[in-house]
Amino acid sequence: MPTMQAIEISQPGSADVLQLSSRPVPQPGPGEVLIKVAAAGVNRPDVFQRMGNYAPPPGASDIPGLEVAGELVDGDLSGNNPFGLKRGDAVCALLAGGGYAEYAVAPLAQCLPVPAGFSMVEAAALPENFFTVWSNVFDRGQLGRGEGGAQESLLVQGGSSGIGVTAIQLAHALGHRVFATAGSAEKCAACEKLGAQAINYREQDFVAVVKQATEGRGVDVILDMVAGDYIPREIDALAEGGRLVFIATLGGSKAEIDAAVLMRRRLTLTGSTLRARPVAFKGALAGQLHDKVWPLLEAGTVRPVIHQVFPAAQADKAHALMESSTHIGKIMLQW
Ligand SMILES: NC(=O)c1ccc[n+]([C@@H]2O[C@H](COP(=O)([O-])OP(=O)(O)OC[C@H]3O[C@@H](n4cnc5c(N)ncnc54)[C@H](OP(=O)(O)O)[C@@H]3O)[C@@H](O)[C@H]2O)c1
Repeated sequence: MPTMQAIEISQPGSADVLQLSSRPVPQPGPGEVLIKVAAAGVNRPDVFQRMGNYAPPPGASDIPGLEVAGELVDGDLSGNNPFGLKRGDAVCALLAGGGYAEYAVAPLAQCLPVPAGFSMVEAAALPENFFTVWSNVFDRGQLGRGEGGAQESLLVQGGSSGIGVTAIQLAHALGHRVFATAGSAEKCAACEKLGAQAINYREQDFVAVVKQATEGRGVDVILDMVAGDYIPREIDALAEGGRLVFIATLGGSKAEIDAAVLMRRRLTLTGSTLRARPVAFKGALAGQLHDKVWPLLEAGTVRPVIHQVFPAAQADKAHALMESSTHIGKIMLQW
């Protein structure tokens, strides 16, 4: 049986539990393809998985890694193949796990062609963040389709994260007004460069800033990875008809809210997690991204923000950097 190098989680713990090891090359099943991985993205959920707090969904690889780019080398191309992918093509793919390896299996429906002019590292930085942001800001959050009209406003919590830099750029490119919180002057400057009005949450109150900037109206959509005690403040910061979309609970998952305020101001609280959603759902998102976002990437209007690239064997260093929270944008691994 052919083998490959992969990064295993030897046991739950700190970054040094990530270890280079030898594994059998995975075999694609029906509707799946095998990718020879050139690069993989590091995402915060990988850190939670490594610590033992975010188990892979049933059937997914125990190897971490939710996104890759590389060469499509084998697999089942007989089913629905909307982008006409074939062996030898450069693809990027959203995975439910298994990305930190020389080979990874992905459902064909979750593969997209590498955008023209993109390196493998740049392409591998796309899937997890762009699928998540599209699904939560534009589908669940309905940015641009609410009571605020075709040009609405968005507040991104954690604007310098991989998710944040994606949300800022996409919303800005599609004509929406964007606010973003971040925890340092350097991170705020990066958010501003991407098109947001930045708010240093360690020094400023984001509710006061967005209220003042919108003449007291508030923002139409908030993309939130903090939750906890942010929730009542976010409800305050929303405009009438506003939508608060949760994608993580870095600050805790519980809060007291006043249902009367939700009724009176027609607010929506929602959220989702991408990893465990079915292939058909992710395939539909891939189609929307290809139609609406790939042209923006190929035109250079939206670009992945790469903070640092590590050799895959140094995944432990990549995780330690992510946990230091000093990065702006994406941390990547390369074989
Ligand atoms: N629901 C889903 O489907 C889904 C999918 C992918 C990722 N996620 C989640 O999305 C989050 C971002 O993921 P990522 O990979 O982009 O991680 P990341 O780059 O490590 O970003 C985490 C960010 O959280 C920010 N943050 C922490 N506390 C904050 C606060 N009180 N106010 C504002 N910002 C705060 C940090 O910024 P500072 O250092 O400036 O505080 C940092 O930029 C993670 O929690 C991840 O689990 C969810």
